Amino acid sequence: MAEEHIQLVEHFPDADAYCRLRAQAGMSPKTLEAARKGLPNTLYGVSLTRDNEVIGMGRIIGDGGCFYTVVDIAVAPAYQGRGLGKRIMNALDAWLRQNAEPSAYVTLVADGEARHLYAKYGFVETAPASVNMEYIVAPRLPD
Ligand SMILES: CC(C)(COP(=O)(O)OP(=O)(O)OC[C@H]1O[C@@H](n2cnc3c(N)ncnc32)[C@H](O)[C@@H]1OP(=O)(O)O)[C@@H](O)C(=O)NCCC(=O)NCCS
Repeated sequence: MAEEHIQLVEHFPDADAYCRLRAQAGMSPKTLEAARKGLPNTLYGVSLTRDNEVIGMGRIIGDGGCFYTVVDIAVAPAYQGRGLGKRIMNALDAWLRQNAEPSAYVTLVADGEARHLYAKYGFVETAPASVNMEYIVAPRLPD
């Protein structure tokens, strides 16, 4: 696969491509409505495209001053393991170095082996001193 045909663009995918790629990459699903509301609030995001198809993505959300969170790092399965995750993280890391305020807290949740990727960019594990805590909002029942 010719690496030069894969472009990194400094633009996050639209809601459809985003939901599709999350599913392809085996990540928990987001509704289209959630994506349509949430994605415009991205501070910085990138896409990897090949022949107009989105095959990778990553973005940073946060308050733009004190707190930044790296989310939605994904590469389509057929393209994993060839440096594309690093290409995405290089772009996000460069943006953070340029834009994040000194003293800002930058976090992410690393799933499985992806922690090895993030460790390359200075992220350190916080457990057991602090642990990630979470819940996912359940579908609303009709009135
Ligand atoms: C995580 C993910 C984005 C990595 O993308 P990728 O293109 O496969 O990653 P790369 O080829 O750029 O590898 C980057 C580094 O990650 C680490 N890495 C990635 N997968 C790994 C694995 N299974 N085991 C150990 N290290 C791994 C390696 O350190 C590698 O660096 P190296 O090649 O210099 O050793 C991709 O596997 C993915 O989309 N997974 C499914 C969705 C997901 O889990 N996203 C992360 C949510 S936190």
